[in-house]
Amino acid sequence: MSRVEWYRDQVFGQAPDSRTAEQQPEGQQPDIAISSTTGDLLEALCMIHRPRLVVEVGTLTGYSTARLARSVSRYGGRVVGIERDPEYAALTSERLKLLGPEGASASVLCGDAVPLLADLDLEHRALIFLDGAKHEYTSYFEALADRLEPGDLIVADDAYAPISGRFDDEPGGHQAAVAGIHKYNVGLAADARFFSRLVPVGSGLMISVRIGEAG
Ligand SMILES: C[S@@+](CC[C@H](N)C(=O)[O-])C[C@H]1O[C@@H](n2cnc3c(N)ncnc32)[C@H](O)[C@@H]1O
Repeated sequence: MSRVEWYRDQVFGQAPDSRTAEQQPEGQQPDIAISSTTGDLLEALCMIHRPRLVVEVGTLTGYSTARLARSVSRYGGRVVGIERDPEYAALTSERLKLLGPEGASASVLCGDAVPLLADLDLEHRALIFLDGAKHEYTSYFEALADRLEPGDLIVADDAYAPISGRFDDEPGGHQAAVAGIHKYNVGLAADARFFSRLVPVGSGLMISVRIGEAG
């Protein structure tokens, strides 16, 4: 546990995610899930932005999906998780069931995110959370970008990959992951349709909001 997490737990008495951590099926949590502090920020973003729809690319076994589901269930939003690996998709669904009514606000689509995103009906006040294959972030973005409306948010995890950590297990290896993240970051930074900032929480988040007049 980091010092930041330790102090957070002094303030809150328990980690905000302790309940979902307990409900994780034992031994099924690879250590590539978001950090618990990233989960804290995602929950705060949900409560501030109140997205009716959260789309998550890459659920793994559902840690981040569960945290998002708990947040949006407070105000009647919903989460659609997308996971390519059928075993992970099934574990995410199992974990959501353990959450009871809060978990019912989320569902999982199993398949490749790029075509699924292109076909997905978006609802305004969307929050898109990218945590799939790092070299594909720009493809996820391109599948969605033209349909995002002013106010919609994209949050991309591992945004500091080019300067921290190793991504050896990524498809294409570490270099492909780093190049993919850098391409995504530079692309969003130069895209006049979006206001973007890199935020140093967990392994870094690139947070981008579609600007312009809401319709
Ligand atoms: C870093 S893990 C996600 C961690 C998860 N968000 C969490 O915090 O618990 C990345 C996941 O993305 C999935 N993935 C990679 N490429 C994908 C794609 N094209 N479509 C859907 N899922 C993908 C992988 O199978 C893996 O489970």
